[in-house]
Order: sequence, then structure tokens, then C-alpha cells
Amino acid sequence: MTKTTLVESKKRLSYENKVILAPMVRVGTLPMRLLALDYGADIVYSEELIDWKFLKSVRRVNDVLGTVDFLDLSDGTVVFRTCEKEKDRVVVQLGTSDPVRALSVAKLIENDVAGIDVNMGCPKEFSLKGGMGAALLFQPEKAKNILSLLVQNLKIPVTCKIRVFESVDDTLKLVKELESTGISAIAVHGRTKAERPQHPNRCETIRKISEALSIPVIANGGSREIEKYSDISKFKEECGSSSVMIARTAETNCSIFRKRGMKDLDEVIKDYLKYAVDYDNSPSNTKYCVQNMLRELQETPRGKKFLECQTLEQICAIWNMGDYCRKKQLEYQSKGILGRREVAP
Ligand code: FNR
Repeated sequence: MTKTTLVESKKRLSYENKVILAPMVRVGTLPMRLLALDYGADIVYSEELIDWKFLKSVRRVNDVLGTVDFLDLSDGTVVFRTCEKEKDRVVVQLGTSDPVRALSVAKLIENDVAGIDVNMGCPKEFSLKGGMGAALLFQPEKAKNILSLLVQNLKIPVTCKIRVFESVDDTLKLVKELESTGISAIAVHGRTKAERPQHPNRCETIRKISEALSIPVIANGGSREIEKYSDISKFKEECGSSSVMIARTAETNCSIFRKRGMKDLDEVIKDYLKYAVDYDNSPSNTKYCVQNMLRELQETPRGKKFLECQTLEQICAIWNMGDYCRKKQLEYQSKGILGRREVAP
């Protein structure tokens, strides 16, 4: 290996023996990703970003926030915001059905992120109609074309996240074909396109995939059984996988990534809000994420007060962070960032 290739390969993200924040629409924005990293996640995936939406954005360095922003050309809203702290550990997940579009987006963000993932598991109508997500499981040639083009033209690793088929043999056939494109790892949610979270996760199928492939397999779908840190390794052992990816448990309490044990929910919300303020996260996205943490606690008097909040400062005030939020917002305004003063729904 030449010196340059050695340095390059060292810089490349490894997917072996990792605990990973799963891609989650609206949840996996910058504050949640940074929180997951603070608590101990090794790699964080972005929410799924649809290729054509990304292509309508422009890259801007935001000196005040210390971020790189991809802003929607039509209305200036943030399509994707990232920062140095996560640069070598953030993977952007793309929703795509087209190799050329996928590559155009990947090229746009290649220097700002650590990896690119292709969503091949989303069972929602919107994805399926557009030939994206789980639709790709049934079009392996197209799936392979997308992955091959990305692998051949990017200097960062490429992965995909799939669901399984009823038939283990069909699943093994598919993953071997996907592996042949040169992807660096594969995340497997152990449910079929038709199955929902209440159905058992097919850990046995993930185990067979792990045995059959030589790239790292990232087991996913275990949140029902992952209630504390030690459950992560149990799930990993059950799946015989190299790595584990967590969605729902992290959505409700991101401190699941902490080796020392989970934090009290109010502490987690405060940690989250600090990042939401520091990175000028939109009130609507912040509210959505806190709502998902509070769940049934929304019925309490404090929860009801929270639901009435429309601004970031109002949300922060409930956790005694109103002053912090106001000061930070004034600081940003004085530096020329007005932020989006949109109200939460
Ligand atoms: C998801 N999931 C998901 N998957 C994906 O590939 N891209 C995405 O953008 C999303 N979005 C998303 C949002 C929310 C709120 C949830 C709860 C889930 C699926 C997720 O990544 C994961 O595959 C499943 O939730 C199963 O893993 P857990 O929850 O058992 O750890």
C-alpha cells in the first residue's frame, strides 16, 4: 500500500464493532446526532434526505454557528446542517431511485460527511411510489446500479439499509448481490416490508446474513428489547452481527448510548435543548423531538404547557433554560443570524 492510500484508508470510517444512531426522519437532525455522540454512539446517521430535495439546495458555511448548511434554494430552510464535531462520524442517508441523482447529491456533500447510506427499507407509500426505500429490494439491478456508481465515484464509504424477505434464501441472495457492489457495510432491519414494529424482529435471519457476508453487518430492529446499555450487546450476540443500530429507544431516550447507564429524561431533554439552541434548530423540529421523548408525559400539566409552546424560548423555559435561549438568540441576532423565527405547529 502506498503512503497516500494508507492515510486515506485510515481516515475512512470503519463500521466494525460500532453502536450506531439509526436514521430517523425529523429525529436525526444535528442536535440529536451530537447528543448521541456525546452519550457514546460511535456513528450517527442523518434522517433520510430525498435526493431531488437535496439537489435543490445550496452549500453555505455558517461562521456564526460553526456549521455547514445546505439550504433550500426556494425558501432558505435548512435541508441538512452539519458541523466539524460530527464530520468523521456522520453518515447521510439518501432516499433515491436513481443512480445519477444519488451520485450528484453524494458529490455535493462528500467533503462534509463520513459516509453515504442508501435507504432500501422504508415501507411508506411516498417512498414506494417514487421507487425508493423498500421498493429497491424488489429491483436488485437498480439497487446495485445505485450502489456501484456511488462506490466507484466517492472517496467516502457507501452502505445501504435494508429490510428482510420472508424467505431467508431470497434475503441471502439479495445481500450477496448488494455486497458485490463494494459497499462497506450493510444495515439490516429484521422485519419484512409488510411487518410493523409490533412484529418480532427476525434476528435469526440477521445472524445468517452475518455468517454469509464478509462486510460488517449492522443489526437493527431490536429496540423493543433494548432498554439498557447491556441489552445492546445481547442483541448483537443474538444477531451474530458486527455492529448494532438503534432507532426507537434512542428516539425516546438518547442516553441509551451511555456505557455508565441511562440519564434521567429531564436531563436528556436539557442536554438536547442546549444543542437545539446552540445550533439554532427550528422550533417545530425541536418540539417534535421533545414530544417523542415525553410521550405519555404530554398528558401531565407540564406536558400540556409544553404542547402550547410555539417558540424555542418557550420550550426552553419549561426546563429552566429560557434565559440561556434568549441570550444565545440575541447573540446570534447581533452577529447577523436572525434564525428562523417560525412557530411550532
Ligand atoms: C424510522 N426508520 C427509518 N429508517 C430509515 O432507513 N430511514 C429513516 O429516515 C427512518 N425514519 C424513521 C423515523 C422514526 C421516527 C422511526 C421510529 C423509525 C426506521 C428505523 O431506522 C429502524 O429501522 C426501525 O425503527 C427499527 O429499529 P429499532 O427502532 O427497533 O431500533
